[in-house]
Amino acid sequence: MTARIAVEGLGLSFGGVAALSGVTMAVPPAEIRGIIGPNGAGKTTLLNAICGIVPPTEGRVLLDGQPITGLKPSAIAARGLRRTFQTSALFGGLTVLENVVTGLHTGLRAGLLDGILGSRRLRAEEAEGIEKAHRVLEFVGMAGFADRRASALSFGQQRLVEIARALVSEPSVVLLDEPAVGLSLNRLSDIDRLLRRIRDERGVTLLLIEHVIRLVMEVSDSITVLAAGTVIAEGRPEQVRQDPAVVTAYLGTAVHA
Ligand SMILES: Nc1ncnc2c1ncn2[C@@H]1O[C@H](COP(=O)(O)OP(=O)(O)OP(=O)(O)O)[C@@H](O)[C@H]1O
Ligand SMILES: [Mg+2]
Repeated sequence: MTARIAVEGLGLSFGGVAALSGVTMAVPPAEIRGIIGPNGAGKTTLLNAICGIVPPTEGRVLLDGQPITGLKPSAIAARGLRRTFQTSALFGGLTVLENVVTGLHTGLRAGLLDGILGSRRLRAEEAEGIEKAHRVLEFVGMAGFADRRASALSFGQQRLVEIARALVSEPSVVLLDEPAVGLSLNRLSDIDRLLRRIRDERGVTLLLIEHVIRLVMEVSDSITVLAAGTVIAEGRPEQVRQDPAVVTAYLGTAVHA
């Protein structure tokens, strides 16, 4: 089976310092892949390289067997790969609904096609977009917040809206950078359930960076462990947790938390 996302020999340097080197991994469709590793391991850099924000210096990324390396982030998004960020990236002055609608624009459509499409068709597309945004807010359990300003939401609610914005265009892959950061412990099971529903009900492949080890161990189908820019272990959660190299990288503590 073709991997949904394949990363081959990925390398990325910042001013001569390697943040990633020789990173190779293959993620099948509709899998939750956890990506863990100590601070500075290269996890966010890996997501940035996959989604095109920072082009890799070496290697390539394939989406359903097609190379996407070197494409602009908007072009990669248009092929069905979306992400959320480590720190909240919502537009605080816009409503929740408006924020989600922005997830429908890949930068290709708006502007370029505005003049070509008739205004009636544009309005129909807009109405359809709003309908989609409502549906995805319902899916993440935020239907009641559509008209609130994003800046008025709690941190945890903002994370859910970011996930909704990533999902609204019906992507096949979503990259999540620490979706549980700042969430209280009793909300962890909500996010766990939501991630499984994204996989099972929408068939989305998830790459999940997460420091909350309990969550990542429970929800991931498999886990890739990065340390100092390289893959030091990969496998089922229970295998990875006992891997001596992983235990050493975490100094024998965090993995068991
Ligand atoms: N824009 C940049 N310029 C220079 N160095 C960078 C840049 N972004 C990341 N780095 C460096 O690359 C390495 C990997 O950073 P990265 O943010 O990918 O780690 P991470 O695994 O996501 O860490 P954390 O768990 O703290 O989020 C670090 O040494 C970091 O200092
Ligand atoms: Mg990071």
